[in-house]
Order: sequence, then C-alpha cells, then structure tokens
Amino acid sequence: SNRIMLGPLVAAIDQGTSSTRFLVFNAKTAELLSHHQVEIKQSFPKEGWVEEDPKEILQSVYECMDRTCEKLTQLNIDISNIKAIGVTNQRETTLVWDKETGEPLYNAIVWLDLRTQSTVERLISKTPGRNKNHLKHKTGLPISTYFSAVKLRWLLDNVDEVAEAVVTHRAMFGTVDSWLIWCLTGGKSGGVHCTDVTNASRTMLFNIHTLDWDPELCKYFDIPMEILPKVRSSSEIYGLMVIDVSHCLYKKTSGSLTGIPISGCLGDQSAALVGQMCFQDGQAKNTYGTGCFLLRNTGAKPVMSDHGLLTTVAYKLGRDKPACYALEGSVAIAGAVVRWLKDNLGIIQTSTELEKLAASVGTSYGCYFVPAFSGLYAPYWEPSARGIICGLTQFTNRSHLAFAALEAVCFQTREILDAMNQDSGIPLTQLQVDGGMTSNRLLMQLQADILCIPVVKPSMPETTALGAAMAAGAAEGVSVWSLRPEDLSEVTSEKFEPQINPEGTRRFSKRRSSMPLTTVAVSLNMGE
Ligand code: G3P
Repeated sequence: SNRIMLGPLVAAIDQGTSSTRFLVFNAKTAELLSHHQVEIKQSFPKEGWVEEDPKEILQSVYECMDRTCEKLTQLNIDISNIKAIGVTNQRETTLVWDKETGEPLYNAIVWLDLRTQSTVERLISKTPGRNKNHLKHKTGLPISTYFSAVKLRWLLDNVDEVAEAVVTHRAMFGTVDSWLIWCLTGGKSGGVHCTDVTNASRTMLFNIHTLDWDPELCKYFDIPMEILPKVRSSSEIYGLMVIDVSHCLYKKTSGSLTGIPISGCLGDQSAALVGQMCFQDGQAKNTYGTGCFLLRNTGAKPVMSDHGLLTTVAYKLGRDKPACYALEGSVAIAGAVVRWLKDNLGIIQTSTELEKLAASVGTSYGCYFVPAFSGLYAPYWEPSARGIICGLTQFTNRSHLAFAALEAVCFQTREILDAMNQDSGIPLTQLQVDGGMTSNRLLMQLQADILCIPVVKPSMPETTALGAAMAAGAAEGVSVWSLRPEDLSEVTSEKFEPQINPEGTRRFSKRRSSMPLTTVAVSLNMGE
C-alpha cells in the first residue's frame, strides 16, 4: 500500500484539568503527527467544591485514542508503528474505586477543590507553633487543601461507600494516572495499580527522600497503606494496553492500540519540564494551563524553599536512574480565569476572543484582578483568600477587565519567579513557557515585560505530552527515543524580548515588589 514509512511512533495520553488529549509523535524527530482533544466537564456541587466524573475521564481517553487513530489512518500512517504510550495527568486530583467492580466510589475531587479547608485549619492548629510547614522536611509541601492526603481523608470520613470498601479490602486510591493505568491495563481483571514518583510526591503521603510511602505520614492522616498504589519510576513498562469498554458508556472503539506497552508516567508539570528538556540543574519552565506552574530543576538534591515554594520530585527516568528534584511555584488560577470570564461573566464567547479584547485597549486602566478563586497558592498558601477586582471607574469596560485578567496571570508568575530567584540565589535569565495560554501573543509579550527577561516558547506547544512520550519511548524494553537534547535539534522556538519603554520600565521596575495587590487581597479577605 502507499503507507508512509516513518519509523517508530510514540503516543501520549494528556489528561489535564480542563481537557483530555491523545497525541502521536515521531520518535526520531519529536514531530507531532496527529492528536485529538475532548473537553472535560467540571461540576461545582457546592461553593468551593470541584469534581469530575472518573468514567467521563476514562471515556474521553478512549474517544481521543480512537479519533487520533482515525486521523492517522487518513494520513496513511500505520498505527502499528506506535511502540509505546505515556501517561501524563492533572496532579493531586483524588479518586477511590472498587477493585472488584471497577466502579469509582465517588467523583474525582479535583486539586482546586476547597472542601478540606476546615480539615486543613484543624490540622495546622494541632501542629507545634501552628506551623503549616510541619511535614515539609519529608514531603516538600505545606499542609494545604491542594494535596491528595486531605482529600482522601475527606472521602474516608464522608463517603460511606469508601469507608466500607476499605473495611472489605476492595478500595483502591489513586491520582488520575493510577486510575487510567489501572483501567487501561485490564481494570478489574488484572489492572496494574501503580503511580510514579512525581505523582506520588503530590499526595503528602510520600517521602521525597526515601522515594516511598511514609508510614508516619500515613499515620498522621490516618490513611490505610494497603489502598495506595505501588510507586514506580517515571519511565518503565507498567503493563500492556487492554481495551475494555464494558464498564463505561463509550462503546465504539477500534481497539487498535491493544498490546502496546504503557511505559511512561509523569504528573503534567514534570512532563512539561521533560518536554522542554530542562534536564540541567537551574533550567526552568512555566506552563500556563488551568493553573500555572513554574518548575526549576535542582538536580539530584531536594532544595527546601524559604520563600513559599514547593519541593517536588521532577522525574526519575528509569528504575535504576536517580531521581531529579525541582522547586515549584504553583498558581491555582491562570487559564481558569479565561474560562470564568467566558462561563460566569459571559464577556467573551471563546478563549481566543480574550486576546483581541485586551489588545483593543492595551491597558487595564488601573483595574487590577486577583483571581484567588481557590485561595492563594504559592508563595502565600492562604486557603481563605478570595478573588477581588479593584480600581474600577465609570470608564472601566470589559476590555480593561480582559487586560487585567491577562496581567493577573503575569503578575502571579512574576511573584513566583522572584521567590525562585531568592531561593536559588541565581536569577533566571530567560523563561521557557508552554501550555494552552501561550498561543496568546499579547500575554507572552506582557509576561516578558513584567518579568524583565525574555520568554521563550517552543513552536510545538504540546510540551507536556511530548515529555510523557519521551519517558515512554525511552523506557527499558522500548528504547525508541533518545533523551539527549542534541538529538532533537529540530525543535524550534520563538522568543519574546521585554520591551523597554520608559513607561513600562517604570511600571515593572525590578526594584518594585511585583504584586502588592495579592497581599492586599489576602489582608482584605482575612479582615486585617
Ligand atoms: O497541580 C495541578 C496541575 O497538575 C494541573 O495542571 O495543566 O491541568 O492546569 P493543568
């Protein structure tokens, strides 16, 4: 036939907060050949609660796989060239399911969810000196609503089915990676219950030094260790793909990926770091997804932050390879602010309209927007903060608000970068970026201006998926992908230089504290 000969291909499942994607790359050139994306519904059953349906998540994966395979077939590309599949996912989101029926026992509690705020406050009030960093020496994390342990605690306390399943030894806990890998390797008939070190490091039950579940942490949160997945490296064969749609609503599937090894697994922010090839100590990237996450590789040693950043496992690319660590600045709301302007305020119909709207005025006209919808994450870790929009006048219109929303994303990033520079003592000289919002050129320019350093964006925007594909393709027993950056010299990028104009320099001067308004928001909300 006239099939195109391309050599080995590697696929990635990218299950993010807002959407699921399946993507297929050429393992020799890293070229993206085809992909498909499906949006994920989020439900907000109560104020501050955010849930997703685990079955819808799984179905979206099947649908993306099928559509992508169809597209490849149309392109005359042979699907049997796909040698491995990697998984990358929204982190911390917490699921519990029944291993005998394969049924989820509750909705997935999404990382942004605030229902555990009182639990967190109670835990902190019991620690010596009300210190939210009480567990940081082991986990690298402050006690916060963000991480899985508190969400799992809530499920055990509030959902009878979960508590019962624990007693009858049928409960399995997992983050989205574990849920997907278990389902995709056979589910109730022999699925593999595992996670990788990067996802595990976001649960607060994992000791980032020993790289294993920590009995003391489990005791602290009173979590039964038998429900936890086995922790593996980010690059090894976990199991082979089994397509079984019997327990979900999605019925049509080609099954053409059956038998392919699933051999890469990384939390999405770690995957983006790998996809950006930030393998050297000191290299950093910022990903603009639902939230926005700046990670800086710190090499073989975990560096503890004095400025409100997290210490996290960056990756461990092979069973016998060393773990690499990163400092992370997590911002809860970035792309989510665009969705909010669209769904809640209705001032735009599509996300792409935001750029045009903001560009039409080119200024917020003194309007500031602090989108602390889910409290404030790094560097504040203040769950009780809430969003504010201020500086409004009669003159302010939706365009100014749009501009203020973009600035808010940039200011939050600036704040993280400042913290990162203070912690490491070596200022970043440029920032590598990726994620959905980076297609917004106005945002990219604003970001460069507000950081006063160049912002560099790869021309292939699917960096997260690329990282997962790299991990899968490089795994022992697959070995179709080289992890040496010099072998991927075809990857190109675009640079946004800070534009020095007198007004701009005054506004975003390096000496000025980057976002006093966040502090204002925190104090206002705390009634100080
Ligand atoms: O920690 C949450 C993060 O992994 C979610 O990423 O891309 O869905 O905003 P994203």
